[in-house]
Parts: sequence; structure tokens; C-alpha cells
Amino acid sequence: MNIRRPDGWATRFGLIMAMAGNAIGLGNFLRFPGKAAQFGGAFMVPYLLAMVLLGIPLMWMEWTIGRHGGGFGHGSTPGMFHRLWRHPVAKYLGIFGVLLPAMVGVYYIYIESWSLGYAWQTMTGAYWGQTSNEEMEAVFSNYLGMNGGLFSFNPHSYLFFLATFAINIFVFGRGISKGIEIVAKYCMPTLLVIGIVLAVRVLTLPPMDGRTIGDGLAQIWRVSDWGALLKSDVWIAATGQVFFTLSVGLGMIHTYASYLKKRHDITLSGLASCGTNEFAEVILGGTIAIPAAVLFFGAAQAQTIAKGGTFSLGFFALPVIFQQMPAGQIFGTLWFLLLFLAGLTSSMAMFTPLLVFLEDELRLTRRQGVTLVGVSVFLMMQPIILFMHHGMVDEIDYWVGDFGLVLFAAIETVVFAWIFGMARGWKEMHLGADLQVPRIFYYIMKYVTPTFMILLLAWYAYDGLVARVLMRGVAAESQPYRWLARLIIAGMAGFLVWGVRFAWKTHPKFFEEASRAREEEEP
Ligand code: ALA
Repeated sequence: MNIRRPDGWATRFGLIMAMAGNAIGLGNFLRFPGKAAQFGGAFMVPYLLAMVLLGIPLMWMEWTIGRHGGGFGHGSTPGMFHRLWRHPVAKYLGIFGVLLPAMVGVYYIYIESWSLGYAWQTMTGAYWGQTSNEEMEAVFSNYLGMNGGLFSFNPHSYLFFLATFAINIFVFGRGISKGIEIVAKYCMPTLLVIGIVLAVRVLTLPPMDGRTIGDGLAQIWRVSDWGALLKSDVWIAATGQVFFTLSVGLGMIHTYASYLKKRHDITLSGLASCGTNEFAEVILGGTIAIPAAVLFFGAAQAQTIAKGGTFSLGFFALPVIFQQMPAGQIFGTLWFLLLFLAGLTSSMAMFTPLLVFLEDELRLTRRQGVTLVGVSVFLMMQPIILFMHHGMVDEIDYWVGDFGLVLFAAIETVVFAWIFGMARGWKEMHLGADLQVPRIFYYIMKYVTPTFMILLLAWYAYDGLVARVLMRGVAAESQPYRWLARLIIAGMAGFLVWGVRFAWKTHPKFFEEASRAREEEEP
């Protein structure tokens, strides 16, 4: 007998689509082109290296940790870590895997709602006639209500936020097979078709002012400045992008994997979800925004636009370009719809660890769990929306979506490869495997990935962590809002620490039973 929660993946196709949806997100279509355009072709070298040495090994580790913990009835990382390492501290380290995705989700849903709002605005031609980057930047500030007052508030965009929030709660509240899996099964193929249509459209654009679409592709694929590789910032940016795009180091993959059956393949499925994500990121994400921007604005200006921030290419430059294309309104609407679908299939994975933690460990019913998650996330989002212009999103993003995920990935690599042990980990990973992973990855996972992670952490400590903590360079009037952002993260962390203490104190019997069940099942 295996301890299972009363839900799970209905089909293998659904699982792969959900896992791919978990990974494919705004990171693929906004963050990746932004970073790649900023650094040029030199970005792809550390990116591909980090994919092989960190991304794919971490994906396999997280699927394995998730399926292993799920076998004991744990759908979130506090319980999973407890099963990997019988030390009282293990379950507390696992808290990161619930805290980080939920906190990323808090601002991620808001950005996702902009895509829905822009899909509507593009379809109705609301900003048509604003044909320069500067004008589109003003449209964007206006959309967010960032016009210098005390609050960032625009009722129109708030409405789209409410709709996006409600869709998310509705979907993940229906659980794995009836909610997440169904949405992924329809949204992911739709997203891929839209992505292919847009990529083909961009690739068939006629030359402009002597520039061809080939020049745009060269911006990503030709390394013109090998010297850039000697600087650390391109390495940090590329590695961070690999983590974010694969959703590793966050706890989201673990929860989806916890619903796998004990002999369900991990190696091939994990690799397939990485492959699908990379197709969406490098082939589709890399073919839409950058080549189009280079064709219309030239390489130098496209780079300057990308340096303006994560949203510049997608929300300023592309709408300008769509206005100059035949049927641009249709392609523009498809672009923002693509962003919305990509965002939705990721954000619904972000709150699942918290919901499952409440259900599995705190014994709340689904309805109670969904209500608690819905109300608390909604409340946490309000200051973030209202005081966005004081950098609250940036503050949370740094602590959870940047530094936090590197920290958690470093912890889990050491726990998996060194404490649980690579020999056991390798065996567990290959139970029911459809693909025998080349032995070299055994050594990569044991030595290279942890070393790489620890070096990265050391780099963070050396480069800017102290300045971040002390808020150097942050305007005095924004500091209280940034402290509020930290307080929100700390409040959530405090709740989870309490939750873990409470669960482990009040339900020891459950854990003993789960443990026995798993041991009986061992061959
Ligand atoms: N992996 C998700 C993304 O790329 C979080 O947006």
C-alpha cells in the first residue's frame, strides 16, 4: 500500500503538459528575450552550460524528491525533506519550497493580469496610434496607474487583476486532475500553436532599411564578443534564467511530482518537460521578440530597449511593431494571449505547494485550504499593487525569485546528493525509468552541481547582498514600502514555521503510518 492523497494525474499526457506548463511561463517570453538581447550571443554560452550542469540535474532531483516524498503522503517539501534527512532541521529547510513559489505567485499573477488586459486593449485597438516606444511606455505607466500619486491604481487594470485572480483560484481549487491537468491539456497545445504562428510571422517579415530577419537571429545566435564571458554578470544572469524558466529551486516541481506513482518514469518525463520548455524558450521565445525588434529598430536600439527592463520588449516595442504590420491587431492580441496562457499555467503551480501543505500537513479540507490561500494571497497582493511604484515587486522578486531560489536549490542539492546520498538518489530516480541516464550525470549531480551552486551563493554574498539588505541606492521615501515587502515575506515564513511545528507535533501517528507503509512497499 502506498500513502496517496485522493487526487493525482489522470493521464501521462496531462502530466507532461502540466509539468511543461509549470515551467513555460512569462520567463520564456519576456525574461529570456530581455536578458538575451541585453547580453547578445555571449548569453547563450553560459545559458546552455548551466542548463546541462544545473537545470537538467535539478529537474531530475526535484522529480525524484517529489515522487519519493509523495510515497509517504507528503506533497510539499517540508515533509519531503523530512523523508530524505531524519534531522529535526530538515522539515524547516523544506519551508522554502512552499514560501518561495507562493511569494513569487503573489506578484506573478499581477503581471499575468497585465497580459490579459493588454490582449483586450490590443483587440479593441485602445492604444492604436501610439506608435513610438516612448508613447507605449506612457501607455504602460498609465495602465498601471503609476502617475506619481500616492497609489498606483487604475480601475481598468484592477478589473483584469480580479479576473485573473479568480481564474487562478478557480482552477487550482479544483485540484490536480479536475483543475490543473484539464487546463494544461488545452492551454499548452494552444500556447504552442500561437507561439509557432507568431514565430512564422516574424520569420517571414520582409527586410527593412537594409536589415533582414537573419540579423535579428544573429543577435542571439552569433557570439560577437567572447570577452563578455570573462565578466560575471552574464554568468549570473544566464544561470538565474535557467532556474527561473525551469521553475527549479522553487518547490513547484516537487509538488506536481508528488502525485506520481512509485514506478512512474522520471528520467524521460523530466527530460521531456525540460525539452518542451527549451523549445518554447529558445526557439519560440527567441524567435519572436528579439528578431522583430532588431528588424524594426536595429540591433543597437533593440539592445537599449531590452536594457530598459523585463517588460520593455514585450509591452513597449512589440506593440509598436504590431501597429506597423498587416493584421497587426490580430497578431498583437495573439501575443498577449500567449503571455497570459503561459502565465496562467505557471501561476496555478505556484500556489499548489501551499494548498497541499495545508491539506496534507495541517489537515485542512480542500475548501478550507482554498479559502485560506485565496484570502491571504489577495490581501498580500493589495499593497503590492497599490505601492508598486515604490519597488515592492522588485524587492520581493530579489528575495524570492532571484536569491531565494538559488539558496533553496543549493540546499536541496546538498540534501539530495550528499545527505540522502547520490547512490540512493540515483537508484530512486531510476525506479520505473524509461531512460537510463548516462553515468556521467551521477558525478555531475554529486560534484559539479553542488559546487556550482555553492560558488553561485558565494557570488551573491560577495556581490550586492549587503547593499540589498541595507537598501543602498533606494530612495528614502520608498524604503518603508520595501520594508513592508520584507514584512510580508517574513509573515508568511513565520506562519509556515508555526505550521510545520504544529503539524509535526499533532500528527506523529500519521507520519509513522506513512513511514511503515512505504517501508512495506520497498522491494
Ligand atoms: N518557470 C516559470 C516561468 O518561466 C516561472 O515563468
